[in-house]
Amino acid sequence: MKKFKRYTVTSALPYANGPVHIGHLAGVYIPADIYVRYLRGKGKDVVFIGGSDEHGVPISIKAKKEGVTPQDIVDKYHGIIKKSFEEFGISFDVYSRTTSETHHKTASEFFKKLYKDGKFVEKTSEQYFDEEAQQFLADRYIIGTCPHCSNENAYGDQCESCGTTLSPMDLINPKSTLSGSMPIKKETKHWYLPLDQYEEFFKKWILEDHKEWKANVYGQCKSWLDSGLHPRAVSRDLNWGVPVPVDGAEGKVLYVWFDAPIGYISNTIEWAEENGKDWKAYWQDEETKLVHFIGKDNIVFHCLIFPAMLKAHGDYILPDNVPGNEFLNLENDKISTSRNWAVWLHEYLVEFPGKEDVLRYVLASNMPETKDNDFTWKDFQARNNNELVAILGNFVNRSVVLTQKYYQGVIPALGELSDYDKEAVEELASYKEKIEKSLENYRFREALKDAMCLARLGNKYLADTEPWKIAKVDPKRVETIMNICLQITANLTIGFEPFLPFTTKKIRQILNIETFAWDQLGSTELLKAGHTINKPFLLFEKIEDAEIEAQVNKLVETKKAQAAEKEAAPAKEEINFDDFTKLDIRTGTILEAEKVPKTKKLLKLLVDTGIDKRVVVSGIAESYKPEDIIGKKISILINLAPRKIKGIESQGMILMAENNEGELGFVACEKDFPAGSEIR
Ligand code: MF3
Ligand code: ZN
Repeated sequence: MKKFKRYTVTSALPYANGPVHIGHLAGVYIPADIYVRYLRGKGKDVVFIGGSDEHGVPISIKAKKEGVTPQDIVDKYHGIIKKSFEEFGISFDVYSRTTSETHHKTASEFFKKLYKDGKFVEKTSEQYFDEEAQQFLADRYIIGTCPHCSNENAYGDQCESCGTTLSPMDLINPKSTLSGSMPIKKETKHWYLPLDQYEEFFKKWILEDHKEWKANVYGQCKSWLDSGLHPRAVSRDLNWGVPVPVDGAEGKVLYVWFDAPIGYISNTIEWAEENGKDWKAYWQDEETKLVHFIGKDNIVFHCLIFPAMLKAHGDYILPDNVPGNEFLNLENDKISTSRNWAVWLHEYLVEFPGKEDVLRYVLASNMPETKDNDFTWKDFQARNNNELVAILGNFVNRSVVLTQKYYQGVIPALGELSDYDKEAVEELASYKEKIEKSLENYRFREALKDAMCLARLGNKYLADTEPWKIAKVDPKRVETIMNICLQITANLTIGFEPFLPFTTKKIRQILNIETFAWDQLGSTELLKAGHTINKPFLLFEKIEDAEIEAQVNKLVETKKAQAAEKEAAPAKEEINFDDFTKLDIRTGTILEAEKVPKTKKLLKLLVDTGIDKRVVVSGIAESYKPEDIIGKKISILINLAPRKIKGIESQGMILMAENNEGELGFVACEKDFPAGSEIR
């Protein structure tokens, strides 16, 4: 394995348009923090870069909605996010922001260098422009009718009804969500990074030279490369961001995904300036190991686009690894900022004061390393009560209490070891290598499990040797036992330091010691006989059912609020009677049903309309299984123009009611009328 002189560790810059939640922490910031704390423990030269991502369309839209400036939005959330990270002990060396002067300058120069070296392709194309709002429209801010399934609220980048990826030009009857008006097409010039030209390079660099990357990351890269790379626009028509530093580019800014990763560099520069370091060593020296911690939605940007930028520039090193995680769900539902389905860090800190490490522990134990994982409050309680309290807290407490009781807090000498002691000491020594190997390979759950084994070992040792039973009869033996218990306790401050920094600090306080180096892990000579320790205090406390119920209730309330919000969907525009009578709606019966391959939502139905038997493709697969709906009475709009959906001609539309959870139900005649009866 290659030896590195120093480490640059980055963690994705969160968008400053909302607070951070447990998903962010579990996916990115806790793993990154564990990794750098470990490296620092090893005495490595490491810089840990964080910061807020403060550009992009969603931020400018949010500002517009709230009637404030984008700067107001990012100022507010940058503050909240930064504080949450600090309070959870995420040990950034720098946490800056992409609106900083240094960043604008760095990003601008980066673009200019690529521009000057001819690394971009310039292209003029037609894009939608909102004449009322006087601006070009980002894909997400155009809605219209999906050409595949007729959903009227499809976005310019995707139809959420049938799941098809769209481009704004695909939409029928496009509408700007800014003004509600019909946008016009207008020519605009942009700069593109020709990713296609880097394809061969990536195939070698990732697929051949980085087979060790996590399977989920490697797999995504491979599938991008297999389907071929295309030029990517790196500028946007927008007034919020880093201005494109080229003549004639007024009203254009760098695409947020172009400037944000450069933020890692900008923030390193800020850190270096403040700390008298040479930033270039951390970004341009082959002996530096660059590691990006991210979530899975960021993989393409960190494995392909940013590396292509770095390579195009020419002076930079490329990441050695990009340990991307999957997603964390909350109580079996996708975490969502807009639906307020999350455990917000700033709220947790108020509701569970002093329990930062509990959340760190639970999230690290459940980290979505290889697949999506679920956070539940029940599991949170169980891990606290059964692991932190019962194993770790219990062992430390008993060791210290007994030391106080027998020796008034003065550590006794280690005498002759019994065979059993030797076994315990050997086991103690065995964890260092295991934990290191896991950490070096970004397997944090496993590393934490092994750290917990140190505490388990202590508990078992104490339970097996039962010093309280022999205190009177064999005091020499008890001295040895207690010395070993205290050495194990001291080892916990090393093994848990990357994971539970607040707790290890407390244990050090109790033991009256300074921080040890990581490489001392496994030693039985951490504490000298004669050293005086302090009185114990509890490291963890039991979490009662009532506290958990309160959290679960809070989530139930969130669900209710979501449902209520949906009920309030506004009425549609008025129509006249003629409009209505144009619809030919009939009763019908489903004769056959099957899933449309490679889709999540679509079923292909054969329907008896009383007039004929026809095929209809309907987006109901998440509410109904095909086998359950054969023979169902339904209502069908039969004079809708036929259209192709996933290659199948669909002739009509089944009427469905939709409840607040998005579940669909057939609309049918209450009496058993034959198919073909008119509905009006
Ligand atoms: N803000 C992005 C997100 O939350 C992450 C940006 S990472 C960076 O998905 F590299 F661009 F900084
Ligand atoms: Zn659709």
